Amino acid sequence: MLATLTQVLSKANRQKYAVGAFNTNNMEIVQAIVRAAEKVRSPVIVQTTEGAIEYAGLDTLKCLVLSAAEQSRVPVVLHLDHGKDLTLIRQCMNRGYTSVMIDGSHFPFDKNVKVTRKVVRWARAKGVSVEGELGTIGGAEDLVSSRRILYTEPKTAVDFVDKTGVDALAIAIGTSHGAYKFQGKATLDIKRLADIKRRLKMPLVLHGASGVPESVVAKAEKYGAKLGKPEGVPDTQIRLAVKNGINKINTDTDLRLAFDAALREVIATKPDVFDPRKILGPARDCMQQVVEHRIRVFGSANKA
Ligand code: G3H
Ligand code: 13P
Ligand code: ZN
Repeated sequence: MLATLTQVLSKANRQKYAVGAFNTNNMEIVQAIVRAAEKVRSPVIVQTTEGAIEYAGLDTLKCLVLSAAEQSRVPVVLHLDHGKDLTLIRQCMNRGYTSVMIDGSHFPFDKNVKVTRKVVRWARAKGVSVEGELGTIGGAEDLVSSRRILYTEPKTAVDFVDKTGVDALAIAIGTSHGAYKFQGKATLDIKRLADIKRRLKMPLVLHGASGVPESVVAKAEKYGAKLGKPEGVPDTQIRLAVKNGINKINTDTDLRLAFDAALREVIATKPDVFDPRKILGPARDCMQQVVEHRIRVFGSANKA
């Protein structure tokens, strides 16, 4: 069933677990995410970036997610991830997204407040939820990341939420987008997170949270990938983040790695196969396993 972000996150906030938000670009990824959520009876957030929409088309992605949501017994949120283009954000709201992120984190505080407040005003009229971001998530230079991590200041976070009225807030506590997150020990600023949660008591979001599982990386490398030394957020750190107030956890890189590893294995071991279903089916299964594992770590299994 289709749900809003506010619906799934208010329960998660009350019961102290996190709901997984997984990025999609195509049918196989949507199916992997929703099948995993069904299997472990968890609510789930399926999200598309502006880059995903540019690749696959807004209506195509929307129809894939809405039809999966309609057929499903678990709550499914259709969310725009890292929305920066106000025209596109409006289109998403008008065409069936139940939640949007306005990412004004690259702006100075006042401009971030201004654009975020505008989106919240539009969203209220439509019954759509809004995630804002304060502080910056690191990562490779692309559409969504900044080069430096600027940790979220607790007092400024309270001011931002008061002035904007967002339903969920993405905070920066040391994670980065992509597969190469840490140089040295992988640690999150849990003290800062606990401080922000104590002041705000609202749903908080962790971006750049992929675990980069060793087994998946090893499989991809076995069949020819050259990944160097990727490093993700360990499950122990994720559990600690959930315990201290994170209620939405974003994952894209782990799905990309799982897709890549399974695809490479088929191509390398079955040279006679050229049916797309036999090539993409194992990739879908591999992504489903990754999503199931993460949902269990987040604590949202059996919460649907
Ligand atoms: O934050 C989300 C992504 O990992 C970057 O996604 O390449 O679709 O912009 P994108
Ligand atoms: P990862 O790159 O760690 O999967 O983060 C994804 C994300 O934050 C999407 O918004
Ligand atoms: Zn992100």
